[in-house]
Amino acid sequence: MPEVFNWQIGRTMSYPYEEAHPEWQFAFVFNTNRCIGCQSCTMACKSTWTFSKGQEHMWWNNVETKPYGGYPQYWDVKLLSMLEAVNPGGQRWAPDRSGKGPYGRFDGLTIFEAAEKTGGNGAQQRALGYLPADEEWRHPNFYEDTAKGPRGEPGGIVHKDGVSLPEHSTWFFYLQRLCNHCTYPACLAACPRNAIYKRREDGIVLIDQERCRGYRKCVEACPYKKPMFRATTGTSEKCIACYPRIEGRDPLSGGEPMEARCMVACVGQIRLQGLVKIEKDGTWAEQPKNPLYYLIRVAQVALPLYPQFGTEPNGFYIPPRWVPRPYLRQMFGPGVDRAIEAYECPSRELMAVLQLFRKSRQIVFSFEIEPGKKVYERTLRDGRKYELWNDTVIALDRRGREIFRTAVEEPFHVRPAMYVNSF
Ligand code: SF4
Ligand code: SF4
Ligand code: F3S
Repeated sequence: MPEVFNWQIGRTMSYPYEEAHPEWQFAFVFNTNRCIGCQSCTMACKSTWTFSKGQEHMWWNNVETKPYGGYPQYWDVKLLSMLEAVNPGGQRWAPDRSGKGPYGRFDGLTIFEAAEKTGGNGAQQRALGYLPADEEWRHPNFYEDTAKGPRGEPGGIVHKDGVSLPEHSTWFFYLQRLCNHCTYPACLAACPRNAIYKRREDGIVLIDQERCRGYRKCVEACPYKKPMFRATTGTSEKCIACYPRIEGRDPLSGGEPMEARCMVACVGQIRLQGLVKIEKDGTWAEQPKNPLYYLIRVAQVALPLYPQFGTEPNGFYIPPRWVPRPYLRQMFGPGVDRAIEAYECPSRELMAVLQLFRKSRQIVFSFEIEPGKKVYERTLRDGRKYELWNDTVIALDRRGREIFRTAVEEPFHVRPAMYVNSF
């Protein structure tokens, strides 16, 4: 197989196709600390794209409760176990010495390399994977709101003595999931019909419904299990990144690129989606004033989901700060400690950028900050000094025009006396 460079694992890896990169890449950051599990995103997607016959089981966007929930059931545990079986004890990270891997270098096997090692499971598999059984898709909210108790069992029992940060012993968190529009998509690599393609203009990964013949190799290979088979058409379907909106073709957009439906519907204001500029060699063009570039590459507060799978996913997560670190490290890689440190004690710039989430439907291409007054300061339990500045952050569109501006401190409204105690 050709060798391609994957920055998230800090090294080159085998992939069935030569490197080819889009000009821009659809990407998103989710702040898991803020998600309330309301499923508004899930229903926004469902009511837009998957409400038809044969799509009943399809949830292109889903929100599952970790550690036990999953759609399809146990998708990540199953794949992690398969990788461990192929490479026992070897799925490890090492420090990066090349300066190219912000999270370190993954020395284990990616799903592509594991398939190579096993000889493709005797069935010409291009990526290690499995086809979930029908019943595994049936309960998208399996184990919803179920915490891990102090003795490691699901449900019911809470820690009697109470605990405090940095880690809770009774915990769960919501994991928001959709297709990651990966740089090295396993679905695309696995399709024998070449029915899956990645768009040059925005990196969105699509299944050509005319070419698809329902082989389901994409379902088997995607480590995130995001292509889904539709029996009524005999083809597979997946998240299309709401591409008409990204292209600015939605009637509401006024011709400007708009965020996807699941992003815009987010009540908890945890989602920020946009486009990052990609150089010809696949590196991210240096754009420190692009909010996604800033959060992912500068502040390094948002991390990819299971980077060790090797598809270079373009969805990034601010990890939940109360969850035991070993669990988070296996899920988001070794960047977890630095990311939580940055989130707990945000820099002045990070605090301003965090205000950009969900103030507009339009994609924010860059930001500016106007300095304000210091409004608060304290020393954290680990001795770090935290200062809050009421700066104003200005969101700009792709042509540098202002979309909105907002301050760090939320405005304080006093209810007029005539409305006191009334609704
Ligand atoms: Fe393909 Fe899965 Fe990556 Fe989406 S998440 S691009 S379906 S491999
Ligand atoms: Fe659904 Fe669009 Fe979100 Fe994809 S981007 S999960 S199609 S709402
Ligand atoms: Fe290919 Fe998946 Fe269709 S493997 S043929 S895109 S079901």
